[in-house]
Parts: sequence; C-alpha cells; structure tokens
Amino acid sequence: MSADSNPPKDRTDEPSAPAKSAAGTELIRFDKVTKRFGGHTVLDSLDFTVSSGKHVTLIGPSGSGKTTILRLLMTLLTPDEGTIRVGGEYLTHEEKGGKLVPAGEKHTREIRKKIGMVFQQFNLFPNMKVLRNITEAPVHVLGMSKDAAEERARDLLELVGLTEHLDKYPTQLSGGQQQRVAIARALAMRPQVLLLDEVTSALDPELVAGVLDVLRDIAHTTDITMLCVTHEMNFARDISDDVLMFDAGRVIESGAPEKIFSEPEQERTREFLSAVL
Ligand SMILES: Nc1ncnc2c1ncn2[C@@H]1O[C@H](COP(=O)(O)OP(=O)(O)OP(=O)(O)O)[C@@H](O)[C@H]1O
Ligand SMILES: [Mg+2]
Repeated sequence: MSADSNPPKDRTDEPSAPAKSAAGTELIRFDKVTKRFGGHTVLDSLDFTVSSGKHVTLIGPSGSGKTTILRLLMTLLTPDEGTIRVGGEYLTHEEKGGKLVPAGEKHTREIRKKIGMVFQQFNLFPNMKVLRNITEAPVHVLGMSKDAAEERARDLLELVGLTEHLDKYPTQLSGGQQQRVAIARALAMRPQVLLLDEVTSALDPELVAGVLDVLRDIAHTTDITMLCVTHEMNFARDISDDVLMFDAGRVIESGAPEKIFSEPEQERTREFLSAVL
C-alpha cells in the first residue's frame, strides 16, 4: 500500500470551504458540558480544549463517555448544559441580542462543515462506487464541481493507497479498504478536525495495521486536527500530542503520551492502562 504521497493542498477557488484556524489557536472548546441519558449523567460539567493542528487521543473505560463527546461534536446529540465552540463559534447555540439561544439548523450545519468523522462501522453508501462515495458530499453539500471533486477524490485515494479500487462497490473491498475509503471520504469535505472513533475495532486483526499506517501518515503529513478515540495504545503513543484520560464523564488526567503511558499520576489511569496494555 502506498500512503506516502503528499496530501492534497488546500485550494482557495472552491466554494464553501470553511475558513481555516491558524495552527495553535483553540479549535474545539467544551465549557461545562453536561449530557444525561435518563437519570444517568454521562458527561459531568466537562471542560476541555483542543488546539488547531494537534492530535488528541481520548482514552478511558467502556461507558466513560468518549463516543458521546464525538457525537456531540457531530451534532448527533445536543448537550443538556454547557456550550461547545468550534473555531470560536458556538456549535449548538447562536448569539442573538446579546443572549445565547439554541442554534438554528442553518447555523449548526455551517459550523459542522469544519468537522469530519470516521466511525467504527464504515457507513459507506453501498449503492455507490468508491469514487462517488467520496465526491457525493463535496458536490452536494459544498457545491464543488464534479470535476474538481473527482480530482480531489483521486488525490485522496492515492493518499489512502486505493487508487486501483475507485471503480468498485464497497462490498467488493475488504473491511480495511472500506475504512480507508471512509477516511478519504471524511477528508474530502476539508474538515478542520477529523474525529476518529475506534476506527479499527471492527476490523480483522491483519487489516488493522494498514488503516493505522494511513492515519499515521495523515497525522504526520497534513495539518489536520485529530480527535481520536482508540484502544490501540501504540498508535496513540505515536501520533498524540496530548492524551486525555476519561473516567465517569470527566477528564481525570491529561498530558503528553510519554507521561500518561509511562508515569500516570492517577491510580485509575494506572489500573486502566494495565488492563489494556
Ligand atoms: N443514546 C443513548 N441512550 C441512552 N444511553 C446512552 C446513549 N448513548 C450512550 N449512552 C450511555 O452513555 C454512557 C457513555 O457511552 P459512550 O458510548 O459515550 O461510552 P464510550 O466511552 O464510548 O464507551 P466504549 O469504550 O464502550 O465505546 C454509557 O453508559 C452508555 O450506555
Ligand atoms: Mg465508544
């Protein structure tokens, strides 16, 4: 697999590509975000930030709220309390007359263009060939021309090492190949941040390395911000600038991977790592 080509460059002539945040500025901000399901508080007044260009990994036990965080960012869920900002703008709120009110559909859709997500189950469009899986949203959501979208899709397929498969249907590909298409599809929307939720956990073991190689390549050769949930601790160690350890809806410890993996301060982090490493 060849995943070592240069990433497609940003172009300024495309409509609706969201404005980029300068490296190092705050891209994601959770302020006192609480999320409950029934009587169960899953996120408990959660604060955290991710700076532009950084690769942040969320670790923590099953049920600690990691997927919930990503689903809130995708606006598949809304917070019960608190606010989320992306690139300085509220995601599910709008400022009107000096007050914060729930955002309208149009506002949320605009902010959400900054975010792309890859799921555990690839969720490709089964009735579309690989190339069209990647061009569909840029053409219909961003208003790109079909030619420009196809050119970018080809660049991205080269990046994920699948150039020779662009004319196949998803069911004609292995799980690892499908997941690499899903990664290309997310990148085609030029998101500023890529959310990755255990993207290798549904794969046969021999297919995991190929997908992680592609993600390592993207992390090392592009300036995209990544927020990643993974149980692949070696991968997390390789790509992360920061690791956040979650437990019971809060960040209980955070820091550089060398610190979290080698000298965690919290007993809960030590326990968790000894179970997964
Ligand atoms: N739509 C929902 N309705 C009710 N409860 C939910 C819903 N989504 C999540 N939960 C509950 O919220 C808690 C956190 O779930 P979440 O999926 O965020 O955990 P996670 O950290 O991603 O776990 P895992 O490592 O197993 O994927 C769990 O107790 C889960 O059962
Ligand atoms: Mg999860």
